[in-house]
Amino acid sequence: MDQELLPIVEALQKHDRKNPTSMHVPGHKNGRVMPAHGQALFSSVLPFDQTELTGLDDLHAPDGVIACAQKLAAAVYGAKDTLFLVGGSTAGNLTMILASFRQGDTVLVQRDSHKSIINGLRLAGLRPVFIFPKYDNKTQLSLGVTESMVEQAFVQYPQAKGLIITSPSYYGWTQSLSEIIHTAHKRGAKVLVDEAHGAHFPASSVFPPSALEQGADVVVHSAHKTLPALTMGAFLHLGKTGSVSLQALKDAAAIVQSSSPSYPILASLDIARHYVHTVQQFDQELLARHFLAMKSNMKSATGLTVVSPPDGIYEDPLKCIVQAPTGYSGWTLQHYLEEENIYPELADSKHVLFIFPLVLDTEQEGTYTKIRKSVNRMMTETPKKEFDSMTMPTSFFLHEAEKDWADEMFHVKQQQVPLMNAKNLTAGTDIIPYPPGIPLFLKGEKIMGERYDFLVEWLAKGGRIQGGEMNKYGDWYLNIINKDENE
Ligand SMILES: Cc1ncc(COP(=O)(O)O)c(C=O)c1O
Repeated sequence: MDQELLPIVEALQKHDRKNPTSMHVPGHKNGRVMPAHGQALFSSVLPFDQTELTGLDDLHAPDGVIACAQKLAAAVYGAKDTLFLVGGSTAGNLTMILASFRQGDTVLVQRDSHKSIINGLRLAGLRPVFIFPKYDNKTQLSLGVTESMVEQAFVQYPQAKGLIITSPSYYGWTQSLSEIIHTAHKRGAKVLVDEAHGAHFPASSVFPPSALEQGADVVVHSAHKTLPALTMGAFLHLGKTGSVSLQALKDAAAIVQSSSPSYPILASLDIARHYVHTVQQFDQELLARHFLAMKSNMKSATGLTVVSPPDGIYEDPLKCIVQAPTGYSGWTLQHYLEEENIYPELADSKHVLFIFPLVLDTEQEGTYTKIRKSVNRMMTETPKKEFDSMTMPTSFFLHEAEKDWADEMFHVKQQQVPLMNAKNLTAGTDIIPYPPGIPLFLKGEKIMGERYDFLVEWLAKGGRIQGGEMNKYGDWYLNIINKDENE
């Protein structure tokens, strides 16, 4: 297939060249009806914000330019089929779970999954058995689940119909998945991979191997996270194993996505796929040297320690994890970086995560100087505190969800109680350190044990959560199931 084509982009440009009169949605009428403040932001995009017109296509029943663009994407990614998504990997995760299993099925799920995986399990009415990942002793970052953990889980739950894993982690660490996938396939289970952070992996051998290449059945990519795509642009790939039906994926995607998908997002997916092809043509040695240089410059020019994964774990060269200097949290460092207009992807109690751009040029003018300045300012203005890495709670390895874990999704009565009084009460909603968006407590779980201690420490050190609120005095309140119903 000719990867130089840009079917959706070209169809939109062709339509625009006709100087068309819009007698259809959207209401901005190719930009004619848009106040000046809206024009200032969107004028170049509005002519391309179209609907299912002749010459364009229908995302939910594509037979024209969208179908062609999806085929090009499948070819570049080595997938059997690819669907374009306008609702991010969130839509992809919901879709793949709904399409792959039947209500009541038992599935093995990596516990440090994004909330969209957890919500997919709920919507599909599945019985999850969570596998707690391994954590790196030094950094307390997730290393994912191992083949032996997966094997052991299948021994204990031979009825499991699938395995849902996340790889790479938000921090860009991943491992060889082939054996894990093979183990699940031996048991007749489907393997679904949330590879939201790895949409660029097939672009170069400099990046870790992709889940599709390693035999996964369905894979989700947030194109918008690392490729030049608009926010919410994502891919859903069907692997070559053919164990999940394309029609089921299409049906599920039509349930979770808008019936008016955004053409700017779809066009940007066309561009992102084309960019993967472009990067494949780069001089790969040069690309490898480029990323090594980016990291080594980060070290030498800023004085920060760049974190490397332990042996056996691949690291995405686009991700750069730096450690906050001793005595400071990652959140404090993030604050000082933002004062210099440097915006990292996220921070935690000990680290700041940067994402490098996928281009072969030097850093944006002055970036490292500004980072160094932020570090120096932090160290002169803010006194050091005793600050250890927070230990991730790992109290259970295999953990079966309560039988009725998803039954009362919306209808339980909730109230807010101060964090200090929430111990041993039942979470009324998922409690999610954010970012990275991995639920610590699921709705219906007792707020207790080392996870409670972790939460208290996380909030005390400056972390934020979803599933609670901070009042104007800085005290945190958690949503719990109404007290009467707790007793
Ligand atoms: C691992 C993982 N999966 C899925 C998602 C959801 O992706 P999106 O924002 O594209 O909906 C995220 C978002 O950060 C994520 O980190």
